[in-house]
Amino acid sequence: MTEATTAHPRRLIINAFLSGAASHLSPGQWRNPEDRGNTGFVDLAYWSDLARTVENAKFDAIFFADSLGVPDSVGGTPDYALRHASQTPNIDPLPVVAALIGQTSRLGFGLTASTTYERPFSLARRFTALDHLSGGRIGWNIVTSILDSAAKNFGLDKQIPHDERYDRGQDFLDATYKLWEGSWEDGALVRDVDSEMFVDPSKVHRINHEGKYFHVAGPLSSPPSDQRTPVLFQAGASPRGVRFAAENAEVVFTNGDTDGRVRTLVANTRAHAASAGRDPGSLKFVMPLAVITGSTDAEAREKYQYVRNYASETTAVAMLSGWTGHDWTHHDLDAPIVEVATDAQRSILPGLAGAHGEPPKTLREAARNIALGGRRGLVVGGPASTARELVGIANRTGVDGFNLFHITSPGTYKDFADHVIPVLQEQGHVWPDYPSGTLRERLMGTGSSRIAPDHRARRLAQSVVTSR
Ligand SMILES: Cc1cc2nc3c(=O)[nH]c(=O)nc-3n(C[C@H](O)[C@H](O)[C@H](O)COP(=O)(O)O)c2cc1C
Repeated sequence: MTEATTAHPRRLIINAFLSGAASHLSPGQWRNPEDRGNTGFVDLAYWSDLARTVENAKFDAIFFADSLGVPDSVGGTPDYALRHASQTPNIDPLPVVAALIGQTSRLGFGLTASTTYERPFSLARRFTALDHLSGGRIGWNIVTSILDSAAKNFGLDKQIPHDERYDRGQDFLDATYKLWEGSWEDGALVRDVDSEMFVDPSKVHRINHEGKYFHVAGPLSSPPSDQRTPVLFQAGASPRGVRFAAENAEVVFTNGDTDGRVRTLVANTRAHAASAGRDPGSLKFVMPLAVITGSTDAEAREKYQYVRNYASETTAVAMLSGWTGHDWTHHDLDAPIVEVATDAQRSILPGLAGAHGEPPKTLREAARNIALGGRRGLVVGGPASTARELVGIANRTGVDGFNLFHITSPGTYKDFADHVIPVLQEQGHVWPDYPSGTLRERLMGTGSSRIAPDHRARRLAQSVVTSR
């Protein structure tokens, strides 16, 4: 549907997309004197300033990516990644979120956590605590993790094979769904002094989850929060990954280098959601994007020229190596990228190697893109042209919003807040103030804090209550 045929302006989800690292998706910018993240990533004052900036601008959420090892795809050692700050070093974002929920009141927080290395019970308990303390502002970016170096930090020699990680992830999720949705009935926490009953035990159930990978007795040892299950984000893009996202995600991250590719991913994921018995229209999609803006188009272009000086193609090659689990530093920069077998992220190389019909990219071209703006490329423009482009991308691809990653932090977010948000607000694409309610109510727009009744989590909850 185009803007012209839309009765109301399409609301855009706007998230700030970072990690607990000095450098997330803009390799080399840690050398830019305007970047505060390179010292701030270990400093609560930096995170607080950032959170306040994006909350004042009515962003939906800060979204934290995460990984559990130092990438060592280059040369089999962490040296290269560390030296060039290739998404490392980083700090655990969960304590950062725990600190920031006390300094904000409406902003949501998305946290990445891995089904491969966490345990269902402890993860469910931690997210429940955060959701209680934040008043229902927590989302979970479900990842299966992609680094061999992470596997080695958790007692494995190498990663569990790609598709099996997703099978294990499903088993993990099923256990958490039962804990969150099924182990406590509504109204179980009665606090009845007269009958000396704090919790009504008839309303709290073991889940007795006996999966292939996880055995969890339950019940959850915390009462449910308003959302019970945090808002579920997922980014699977391989065939198995899309199926996993379609069965579980409420908000899907769609990465793609062209509008057409993103549109296909959106359609494909919706079709799989329908096959899984879900309303395909209920899924939301957000796309990673970097924006350089200023008070005019010319000022934005100037800023672009300036940050180009710091973009590092060397580090971009290291990042590509980490994502794909393959050492690209030995490849000819001017040769086309070819697909290699990988147990890391499977959805990157086909696009670069020309499997979707476009000509293959050389390693140099891929590195140049990754170094500044990501695989899809930057949006550079003043307030009106940037707002127009964002709405245009949403209309052309079917995404519901953007995970904005930064060139420098918090500068990129301050610029977006100062220049683009007011235009989007005026046009009705961003709300003038947060409506009341939980993160799920705001993102999904269903008027309910609870995950949708047609979601697998709710079906599994029924099995807990009926089997008690
Ligand atoms: C926008 C975006 C953010 C992601 N963030 C993380 C992350 O923080 N940690 C992680 O381990 N993987 C992350 N991933 C990788 C995904 O979890 C997943 O491995 C990837 O989308 C590839 O899935 P596939 O193997 O099914 O192709 C992210 C992917 C995308 C597109």
